Amino acid sequence: MAMRLATTLSRAQLGLKAPEVVVEAHVSGGLPQFTLIGLIETAVRESRDRVRAAISHSGLEFPDGRITVNLAPADLPKGGSGFDLAIAIAILAASGQLRRERLPGIELYGELALSGGLRRVPGLLAALMAARRCGRFAIVPAAAEGEAALLGGEGIGLAGELVEVVRCLNERVALRAPTAGTAVRGAANPIGSEDLAEVRGQAQARHALEVAAAGGHHLLFTGPPGTGKTMLARRLPGLLPGMTETEALESAAVHSLAGGTTVFRQRPFRAPHHTASTAAMVGGGGNPRPGEISLAHHGVLFLDELPEFSRPVLEALREPLETGQVSIARALRTVEYPAAFQLVAAMNPCPCGFAGDQAEACRCTPEQVRRYQMKVSGPLLDRVDLVVSVSRVGLGAAQSGSAPSPAESSAVVRGRVLAAVNWQLARAGVLNARLDAAGLRDYCQLQPDAQALLEMAGNRFALSARALDSVRRVARTLADLAGEECIRSAHLAAALSLRADRGKGEGLIG
Ligand SMILES: Nc1ncnc2c1ncn2[C@@H]1O[C@H](COP(=O)(O)OP(=O)(O)OP(=O)(O)O)[C@@H](O)[C@H]1O
Ligand SMILES: [Mg+2]
Repeated sequence: MAMRLATTLSRAQLGLKAPEVVVEAHVSGGLPQFTLIGLIETAVRESRDRVRAAISHSGLEFPDGRITVNLAPADLPKGGSGFDLAIAIAILAASGQLRRERLPGIELYGELALSGGLRRVPGLLAALMAARRCGRFAIVPAAAEGEAALLGGEGIGLAGELVEVVRCLNERVALRAPTAGTAVRGAANPIGSEDLAEVRGQAQARHALEVAAAGGHHLLFTGPPGTGKTMLARRLPGLLPGMTETEALESAAVHSLAGGTTVFRQRPFRAPHHTASTAAMVGGGGNPRPGEISLAHHGVLFLDELPEFSRPVLEALREPLETGQVSIARALRTVEYPAAFQLVAAMNPCPCGFAGDQAEACRCTPEQVRRYQMKVSGPLLDRVDLVVSVSRVGLGAAQSGSAPSPAESSAVVRGRVLAAVNWQLARAGVLNARLDAAGLRDYCQLQPDAQALLEMAGNRFALSARALDSVRRVARTLADLAGEECIRSAHLAAALSLRADRGKGEGLIG
């Protein structure tokens, strides 16, 4: 047999980046042998067997002789089963069973079943976005239609089987394009059964939730059991505005990397259990996957029973809480995932839950209380903008009232949140929580008396520079909710009390 060479294009996974991979196939005479090279991981090595079976079962010919497939560039680690289709097509082209004119303008992704069927692989969305930037046509498994449709369907062809791809290349039979209707689009998250109207009393906590929603601030509820902390936290997504197109695509791309699906345009709400490992939380593993904090990108990460999470997990949150992304160092290179989540957490003030409670006596020793609160480290707590104690007093007042006025619904609160959010975006392009130093200077100027108050509180409570900035951002949100241009001392005082309400003096004071 004459020596023949053919190349096809595909993409590897590197966080949300999808660097191009060139698949080179070389077929020559000699003893039958099939080698696969180019810094490949185990799953790719198994491609050989799948590709061989898929080609034979598709009524095509698996070439005799010596086959070498190289995945380039050689220094890029390649994992997963997504190269199967590109490898099979390269071999078919190298053995003269395919016309190659169109190959340079086409990218191929998908795992092959032994029968020749095409299976969906994780990370398709990031790859499709990159292919589109390069102006190339992409062929993807038909099973990934929902994901492909998110991009509008143009320049994408769906194939259910290897033979369909062969027919498309040889006979110019057009592949079906994803239909846009496949993507589920929604405005704001549906409120459903989790409406704020069901939460009785807790005026301060409800207010804090509204402020957090309006400015994107991180929030911690502390208080005795059964006062509605978990209930309140679960109602945060229902207060948030709908996602923008870019946010929705980024979120969907992260979920696609993890191999899962989401309802498109719905803000994620992730509530990992406190037994979660560091890898599950921030991402990682041999073949790195995004963790909970990235799955919560542009949405909410809810950590219930905060002190029960392991120390390394909590410490790993410090970097992403500030930068909105996480880097996972691997031997060969560092993978970055977006992680711009909003943290909402809940905890009891002590092991028995009643420290600081007016009615029930706490059964813990001061040492036990101290140790419990120490589990949430100072540096982590410093990054939480709002710390609100949820007491049974707030609850009781509402219950004993002769005719309690009905609580506001999520829809009403969301209306106010939306107005404040639109104002922030028009002014600075980002939510107040994401204002940088320049943003703070331009948009968070304080009136002189407010400035004096901030300096006094800073000295009195020994607030860090980060905490002082956070108070200014929250004060900005309070002014926005009130529809006011200037940050007055009342806004600042309210922001301070929302930050400093850290238990009854048991070490949570910032
Ligand atoms: N403020 C409230 N208004 C209405 N129902 C409430 C309120 N607080 C608690 N409940 C009722 O009590 C149940 C438990 O509340 P929730 O789980 O929110 O308490 P929690 O503060 O998170 O307690 P824990 O500290 O034990 O986790 C709720 O499902 C609800 O039925
Ligand atoms: Mg709870």
